[in-house]
Amino acid sequence: MRSLIALKRQFHRLQASSNPAARNIYKGITILYSAINGTFCFLTDSSYRAVLFMQLFNSKNVHQTTPLTGMNRYPEIFSACQNYLKNKKNLKILSFGCSTGEEVLTLRQYFPDAEIVGVEINKRSLKICQKHAVDKRVRFLYSTEKNIRRYGPYDAIFCMAVLQRRPHDIAAKGIENLSKIYPFEKFEQQIKQLDDHLNNEGLLILHMSPYLLTDTSVAGKYVEYGDCNQNDYISSFFNKASQKIDVFGTVKSVYLKSNNTHLHSLGY
Ligand SMILES: C[S@@+](CC[C@H](N)C(=O)[O-])C[C@H]1O[C@@H](n2cnc3c(N)ncnc32)[C@H](O)[C@@H]1O
Repeated sequence: MRSLIALKRQFHRLQASSNPAARNIYKGITILYSAINGTFCFLTDSSYRAVLFMQLFNSKNVHQTTPLTGMNRYPEIFSACQNYLKNKKNLKILSFGCSTGEEVLTLRQYFPDAEIVGVEINKRSLKICQKHAVDKRVRFLYSTEKNIRRYGPYDAIFCMAVLQRRPHDIAAKGIENLSKIYPFEKFEQQIKQLDDHLNNEGLLILHMSPYLLTDTSVAGKYVEYGDCNQNDYISSFFNKASQKIDVFGTVKSVYLKSNNTHLHSLGY
């Protein structure tokens, strides 16, 4: 075991070697390793294949690629929204990027009478969603503008850990410009589309995203609602030019769409 660790250390030293041949050996072995590893994952892991196909054939529409999710992942946010929406009749909710469905199953617990639509772009995850035993007022659909429109407009749109890419990597590498990984324009275009499907006095919940709703062209329609925030988001925040910024204060997660200008002037 010890000799294996020593060998690994020696191998990584090649990367910083002053000898170009040693550096090329390092590069060659790394590429070969990635190719073997990629092929192995492709052949054995259906989740890996689903993400790869999505990136290859639907890259224009895909935001976050990882399907990581869980039940009741954001209890404070769900409770705050439940509180705001408690008296609303014929409630319609959209979970945009619902992965394998746990977010929708959680929303059903918080909103027992609502019509809930979960949309997902990863076909493998969507198949898993469609196996859940749910009531007739829950739907899982492939994520297209047409499908979203068909059951809308909505009183709440949850967009949790979707409008982002590789946040851990960005944080670890201290990446300063996101334009190649996840440009602002892609984020803004999606926000504008979602805004189109949200009722006035409805909630847009935007959690774990490196960009700010306040930077988008629809910002003027929204006011912050409540205290839920993105303080524990691992990534930095970025501006309209996809450049890293320092944010003073907190970035909120829940926004109320309101044409009541009085609320805007109060900074509600
Ligand atoms: C990290 S998961 C988040 C799942 C869930 N919202 C949560 O917070 O637990 C991100 C999901 O967004 C999905 N996604 C990415 N782009 C999408 C799009 N354009 N439409 C719908 N889903 C999308 C991914 O396939 C993935 O399942």
